[in-house]
Amino acid sequence: MNKKQQELLIVGNWKMNPPTMGNARKLFLDIRERVSKRATNVQVAVAPPLPFILELSKLSPTGRIQLGAQDVSFEDGGAYTGEVSLQMVKSVGVTFVIVGHSERRKMGETDIVIQKKTSLVLKQKMQAILCVGESSRDKAGSYFGVVEEQLRIALQDVSNTQVRNLVIAYEPIWAIGTGKTPTPADVYEMKLFIQKVLADRFDRSVVKKVAILYGGSVDTKNAEPLLIEGQVDGFLIGGASLRTSDFTKIIDTAKLYAHGKTS
Ligand code: PGA
Repeated sequence: MNKKQQELLIVGNWKMNPPTMGNARKLFLDIRERVSKRATNVQVAVAPPLPFILELSKLSPTGRIQLGAQDVSFEDGGAYTGEVSLQMVKSVGVTFVIVGHSERRKMGETDIVIQKKTSLVLKQKMQAILCVGESSRDKAGSYFGVVEEQLRIALQDVSNTQVRNLVIAYEPIWAIGTGKTPTPADVYEMKLFIQKVLADRFDRSVVKKVAILYGGSVDTKNAEPLLIEGQVDGFLIGGASLRTSDFTKIIDTAKLYAHGKTS
């Protein structure tokens, strides 16, 4: 297996879990303890619920575990009850934002809203993890069109310079939390397709640097084939990121892969 040059990115999306600050602190400390201090080619990140972020950022002062927000408003501030701005999350240690997760799309977030959020995050030089993915697959392959359209709209206002901070998470909706996953070959095919769509819009030299993650029922068993055959640059992990031993096992798999040690 070829040694992987690019850094891999393993992101835990905690969603609306765990229930309390105490539980969140424990989960974070358990992960921190098991994520080696040694420099590796794997960047570990978690996106906890917003109320927990400030305290967790104090537990990771060196940024060994990056902290992200699961969502952010596209407005800068003002009379928007319940919303949280990018500046606010940045001020408590957030370095990346998940944008357009399918669970938010299901709650009514439109492609245009996702476009505004993606532009805002990238304009502020923060990392945006843009989620795309089809709800089902058909033999005719129309799901490629779905992903293309999501990318086209979300990235409409993004420049070549800004795209450097973009990460794409390919998350087929039918695979999220279901235990089902596409084959590694399917994931690789989609990765190539996403790169082609990006290359139609941005310089090839920048496109090569855009990490493409896979998300949807990633676990300790499928992580390795998805990295090796799927050739993804990391994972966006829901359920398994709440189980320390599973999450850290996946990180260890990524470390082995990043160092070219797996066969
Ligand atoms: P899952 O969630 O790993 O539980 O399928 C992934 C996600 O929704 O990002």
